[in-house]
Amino acid sequence: MIHARITGTGSYLPERVMTNHDLEQIVDTSDSWIRERTGIEQRHIAAEGQLTSDLAEPAARRALAAAGRVPEEVDLIIVATTTPDRTFPSTACLLQQKLGIHGSPAFDVQAVCTGFVYALSVADKFIKTGAARCALVVGAETLSRIVNWSDRNTCVLFADGAGAVVVEASDEPGIIRTDIHADGSYESLLTTVKPDPETTDPERLADGTAFIEMRGNEVFRMAVNTLGRIVDQTMEAAGMSPDEIDWLVPHQANIRIIQATARKLGMSMDRVVVTVDRHGNTSAASVPLALDAAVRDGRIKRGDVILTEAFGGGFTWGSALLRY
Ligand code: ACO
Repeated sequence: MIHARITGTGSYLPERVMTNHDLEQIVDTSDSWIRERTGIEQRHIAAEGQLTSDLAEPAARRALAAAGRVPEEVDLIIVATTTPDRTFPSTACLLQQKLGIHGSPAFDVQAVCTGFVYALSVADKFIKTGAARCALVVGAETLSRIVNWSDRNTCVLFADGAGAVVVEASDEPGIIRTDIHADGSYESLLTTVKPDPETTDPERLADGTAFIEMRGNEVFRMAVNTLGRIVDQTMEAAGMSPDEIDWLVPHQANIRIIQATARKLGMSMDRVVVTVDRHGNTSAASVPLALDAAVRDGRIKRGDVILTEAFGGGFTWGSALLRY
């Protein structure tokens, strides 16, 4: 049997850091409100002209270096993103070009905050069926471009960044199982809309950008309930109990959602990787960014059992259980 194992991780954050105090200058908010309600203290914002593939490239190169691979060895590229550079070519094709690779399949996956879990699930199947042997799976976002900077309900939450993993065929077990779901009937709770011409800077209007709009409270309740259910289902289907998990690497949307999922699993917060305080919500990039942070600082070690989960626009949700 062919197994699919993560052999390297990498990430990249744009240089510019925006603190909660910086946001106090832009909208009617406060550092204490943002910290208490979300756990976020700062986030990274892409420079003007820095696109999603520009963040994806260094993250991908770092993951390849960690796996001891060169770009020519990659035979599948999947980029999870909600904020592609362009409608087409896909960000995966643009990344492929930047890496100097020719011929391997390359495509984007759009599942908003669950995008990386979806992409990992697809790569797992390619590897396990023998269709690929060395996959590059990237989550990358420039959400700052689709944030309405005059809407305090959303602009304090979202941010930019990229994370990547290399998934390879292996004799040893790696990805144990992935579970992905969607329910499009909730589209109105978390969506993108064309901005109101009365309140929007005409330049933003002219470029046709639609902005994130969210009914935060309702999304919060759905996220807590759904994530609580999916982690239980995943553990039960794998025939494992939560005390066998070494690390929970959750989607980083809100510290209170993360704490609720950890409580549901009976896990103490010292076994949960938290980056939401420094990264904000980077959507599809948040799980691989958190994973890479904990691998690089030595918390996650080879052989550790990791559970990741995510919930996002769509609604979409999913989880991946793996041995690192
Ligand atoms: N600063 C100060 N006050 C604010 C701010 C702000 N930035 N934003 C909202 N408020 C106010 C509201 O106006 C409201 O005031 P009111 O009571 O006078 O009407 C009050 O704070 C409470 O607002 P709520 O929306 O009820 O606050 P809540 O505790 O629910 O926190 C939050 C809001 C942080 C958005 C939370 O609901 C949340 O995290 N939701 C889920 C986000 C998520 O998981 N999204 C999914 C993934 S994202 C994706 O897929 C792209």
